[in-house]
Amino acid sequence: MKLRRAALVSSTLATCLVASAQAGPMVWASMGEDAYRLLRRSGAELEQVEPFSVAIRAPLADGRIGTRNESVYLMQVDEEALPHLSSEIHEKLNRCGGFMLHASKAEGREAVARFHDAATRAAKPLVSYLIDNDAEVNPLLPQVQESNIRSTIVHLSTDYKNRYYTTTGGVSASDQLMQTWKNLAGSRTDVKVSQFTHPWAQKSVILEIKGTTNPGKIVVIGGHLDSTIGFTNENSIAPGADDDASGIASLQEAMRVLLSSGYKPKRTIQFMAYSAEEVGLKGSAAIATDYKNKGKKVVGVMQLDMTNYKGTSNSDITVMTDYSNAAQNKFIKDLVAHYQPTLKVTEDRCGYACSDHASWTNKGYAASIPAEALYDDSNPYIHTGSDTISKSNNNANHALKFAQLALTFAVELGSDGK
Ligand code: BES
Ligand code: ZN
Repeated sequence: MKLRRAALVSSTLATCLVASAQAGPMVWASMGEDAYRLLRRSGAELEQVEPFSVAIRAPLADGRIGTRNESVYLMQVDEEALPHLSSEIHEKLNRCGGFMLHASKAEGREAVARFHDAATRAAKPLVSYLIDNDAEVNPLLPQVQESNIRSTIVHLSTDYKNRYYTTTGGVSASDQLMQTWKNLAGSRTDVKVSQFTHPWAQKSVILEIKGTTNPGKIVVIGGHLDSTIGFTNENSIAPGADDDASGIASLQEAMRVLLSSGYKPKRTIQFMAYSAEEVGLKGSAAIATDYKNKGKKVVGVMQLDMTNYKGTSNSDITVMTDYSNAAQNKFIKDLVAHYQPTLKVTEDRCGYACSDHASWTNKGYAASIPAEALYDDSNPYIHTGSDTISKSNNNANHALKFAQLALTFAVELGSDGK
């Protein structure tokens, strides 16, 4: 994971990664170079560190996207040190690192190798990315409402103290979201809403619109429901308005428009609100692993994580090129050019395991993360009590673009009979 300002590392280390007084169990984790260095300098207990060189897709010197290597480290680490890794400190400046948890050393090695393979595999599309559903999409786009997105963000960020994966706030946010989605589904028998149960309290939520002619092929649009301020407990104030109430609100509005219009996809479309992203992508990893083990055919995954903070550049949508699928990323850029031609798309990198798309990439599925801004220009208030909608001028104008993108992605990928 990248650090925003390298110079801040030493001054923030003390609060970022205090070696915990009470040592927890040792767990297997993988992470990028910056996160690893922070951990090491924090004095956290680390054992059996193994370095790897992993291919990522990134802009090369000439600006074109190509393949190059970055360092990833697999190790055993004191579990108590990890919450600090995901905490943002000094109010708005520095972000600590992305990481993934693994059941064993062997499993960690396999995961790192799979990331390498995903980036080196030719950027050959596994499905057709033909954009040919204007007749269905165009009437739906103007139905996407900023006011709905805004009220979902306000609800999620103010009606619970936090949505952490172990707290009562996190649990009720999941239960209430399921109810909201059931209400949107109405009496349709081809729509199912369920919770995915984890070994921790907060459940993930899934709404499925079953495909008519090709239901075995699944399109996934997801975001994470949990919020954090690092070490989060029952009473912590972690509004997570941008990270990631905004992503959930964007995908829920796309869902609402699809359902209310009576649109019936040929492929199955699943909307997901993941639990426990902020603690190492645990919720999405459990779901992606379950789908892989069951042989489920997921044809494409879009992750919406942070959609409502515009940043200072004139970019509207930033497609992250690392740990994502190059062919599908091109499809997303083509979708924007076709259906949202006034928007400017840029590309950047998000770092190792920055969000749930990485869980899907890791299981061999095509996943992408179109995000609110260039990485260094994205919301500096995340993981603090100040991640509120006021930092986005109390409106959801930016998140609206992502709700529309989720809609075009759902219909263009969901309408294929093959
Ligand atoms: N929303 C962030 C990731 C992100 C940051 C996306 C900036 C786009 C732009 C996510 O919730 C997060 O905090 N990720 C952690 C890693 C996670 C495994 C704890 C991170 O990036 O440090
Ligand atoms: Zn976060």
